[in-house]
Amino acid sequence: TILVLDFGSQTSHLILRRLRSLNVYAEMLPCTTKLADLPWKPVGIVLSGGPSSVYDEVSPHVDPAIFDMGVPILGICYGCQEIAWRINDKNVQRGEKREYGQTDVDILTLDGQQDHVNRLFEGVEANTEVTMSHFDKLVHLPEGFVTIASTPSTPYAGIAHKEKPIFGIQFHPEISHTKRGMDILGNFATKICKARDNWKMENFIEKEIIRIRKLVGENAQVIGAVSGGVDSTVAARLMKEAIGDRFHAILVDTGLMRLNECEQVKKSLSDHLNINLTIVDGAELFFSRLAGVTEPEAKRKIIGGTFIDLFEKEAIRIEEEAKHTPHAGKVEWFLQGTLYPDLIESLSWKGPSATIKSHHNVGGLPARMMNGQGLKLIEPLRELFKDEVREFGRQLGIHEELIMRHPFPGPGIGIRILGEVTPERVELVRQADHIFISSIREAGIYNEMSQAFAALDTSRAVGVMGDSREYGYICILRAVSSVDFMSAEPYAFDSKLILKIANRIPNEVHGITRVVYDYTGKPPGTIELE
Ligand code: XMP
Repeated sequence: TILVLDFGSQTSHLILRRLRSLNVYAEMLPCTTKLADLPWKPVGIVLSGGPSSVYDEVSPHVDPAIFDMGVPILGICYGCQEIAWRINDKNVQRGEKREYGQTDVDILTLDGQQDHVNRLFEGVEANTEVTMSHFDKLVHLPEGFVTIASTPSTPYAGIAHKEKPIFGIQFHPEISHTKRGMDILGNFATKICKARDNWKMENFIEKEIIRIRKLVGENAQVIGAVSGGVDSTVAARLMKEAIGDRFHAILVDTGLMRLNECEQVKKSLSDHLNINLTIVDGAELFFSRLAGVTEPEAKRKIIGGTFIDLFEKEAIRIEEEAKHTPHAGKVEWFLQGTLYPDLIESLSWKGPSATIKSHHNVGGLPARMMNGQGLKLIEPLRELFKDEVREFGRQLGIHEELIMRHPFPGPGIGIRILGEVTPERVELVRQADHIFISSIREAGIYNEMSQAFAALDTSRAVGVMGDSREYGYICILRAVSSVDFMSAEPYAFDSKLILKIANRIPNEVHGITRVVYDYTGKPPGTIELE
């Protein structure tokens, strides 16, 4: 395993992702992790980039013990500056201007040095394009190091220690625009760290099933919320594989789901994947609690809270029932489909960040349930990224349509109606969304975008239908492309197609008189409207 120590750069997780796509297993921990606390010994360490300046008093630093472990180290951007700064705090200074974007870097092959010095860039041309993103830079070559890459404005774009396998690079090999980035990371991982490139999904599934069986034991039961999305479905399928009917999936029908969604989830989970599924009908309760509420955060909190209330009730019922079955024990575990990026975002090492909106996935659930019922959390996907979960799902036999489904937020259509949520308005969104998504599917472009949906502006606009005046709502269509949903670009539709959709919606959905397409990126917008 390679250890990535994270200094908070936007692309830290990509380092991990790239290493894993080279079949090298890597894990990421906060930059301040004390190595003495680590239960395993890494074969190499990568120090990521980060937003701070090494010389600021409040900036984060690594445990100096990593330099005495004798394992190879690669510092990227801030990580490179950290290595240089530790040797002499005069080595790093603020540059005159921020250097951001594509640059050509000269790779220097040095004669008369130890073998490892030239190994990082083995096979890379003498001049190659890289991505830079930095203000600070090395102004002196740290003692004991040689220069292995440079550009006119960044003379120490790459450094290597003369004796030890310690390297620093100012550019970002994990960003795909760094042309030979994968080769550089591959050289570091397999040639310098000698990490084994045997990380495979099949092995992961097998190991995970064994781990779950051991953890849960012979009798205990597990419950988990499912939504029909890929993460919760894959997690549920894995539990079924590991412990059979001792796993109970619960789907809370909030009344805010899309057209036919509950039936579809039921079809795929209980009929197709043979998972124990209970559907809890909560629509009435959700609508009554949402009556008269218009403020987005208030809506989100009500939906999240109601969800928990219903889920909790269901968990107690399953627990009661279990008492009467001789073969099954207590409900002891709670399954969550948490992925690696969720985990990174929820940990505090990135420092305080602003709450833009309160996401409701089942995130709020464990804390309360764990207190009340002593449930333990089980998160089999916590080491994976979305594309890995998809691959995982395919191997577990989940059908492709579900695997590639766009994400759908926990609060559902509730946050796609600007203003008060009523059953009638939800129905309008459902119909419009169905037309939008089925047209996208028919055009064969569903997988070209990351997420698409219809929403409702409850201000009204005048229209004319036949000979009569209509006063109806405004439908907002939104489709975006995104890699990680942290940022997104609006999807550029073929105009004929979007015009056809815009024509169909007011004609087929009575109560909508206008259709608009949202061209806002994220930032400055967010993907959902509330
Ligand atoms: P935003 O609107 O924050 O959305 O740009 C980013 C991604 O997260 C989804 N989203 C949610 N998912 N519970 C969820 O499970 C939520 O409360 C929630 N809010 C937003 C959104 O659909 C997009 O994919």
